[in-house]
Amino acid sequence: MTARLVVLISGTGSNLQALLQACADPAYGATVVAVGADRDGIAGLEIAAAAGVPTFVCRVRDFPQRSEWDRALTDHVARYRPDLVISAGFLKLVGEHFLAAFEGRYINTHNALLPAFPGIHGPRDALAYGVKITGATLHFVDAGVDTGPIIAQVAVPVLDDDTEETLTERIKQAERRQLVEYVGRMVREGWTIQGRKVTIP
Ligand code: GRF
Repeated sequence: MTARLVVLISGTGSNLQALLQACADPAYGATVVAVGADRDGIAGLEIAAAAGVPTFVCRVRDFPQRSEWDRALTDHVARYRPDLVISAGFLKLVGEHFLAAFEGRYINTHNALLPAFPGIHGPRDALAYGVKITGATLHFVDAGVDTGPIIAQVAVPVLDDDTEETLTERIKQAERRQLVEYVGRMVREGWTIQGRKVTIP
């Protein structure tokens, strides 16, 4: 049985692309069955379309209330019956409907070593703080901002001449490898969450 992945994106989709490449090997154990976005006109949607993967766009501003957007997003994703939902650069916080449907199988890749530097400017905040090591964190999503149980982390050095751009790119390379490795392990081997402790057998 091949696991069904729905990937949520807001941007360039380099993590999505890495997952699609991994899924091309049947031994990987997963298929991206749909890609969802919170905005039109992003490169990630073109990557999905080029790979023949169905896409949908669900924009907050098309709904009178955030909770209605959350319901609509939940319905879009549920239609594809995912085993795992992956936020890969998805810049929206989901709400209670989405979490009621997918908590425990909704994961996010974040470009800092949580709990340091949550939010959408991980590399910028790490540089500004002056840390020497940062990285990427794969975690389950809960109701907080980048606060859910941690699945995996990878360290990335901060170099003296780093800019936000160079550091962001170095993190992304490590982040993609981590995402592909752990999604594969999760779909092939399963996982447990006890409190904050995540175990992949
Ligand atoms: C990732 O680095 C993620 O951590 C951050 O946005 C980036 C997404 O990049 N939130 P991409 O769209 O997968 O290229």
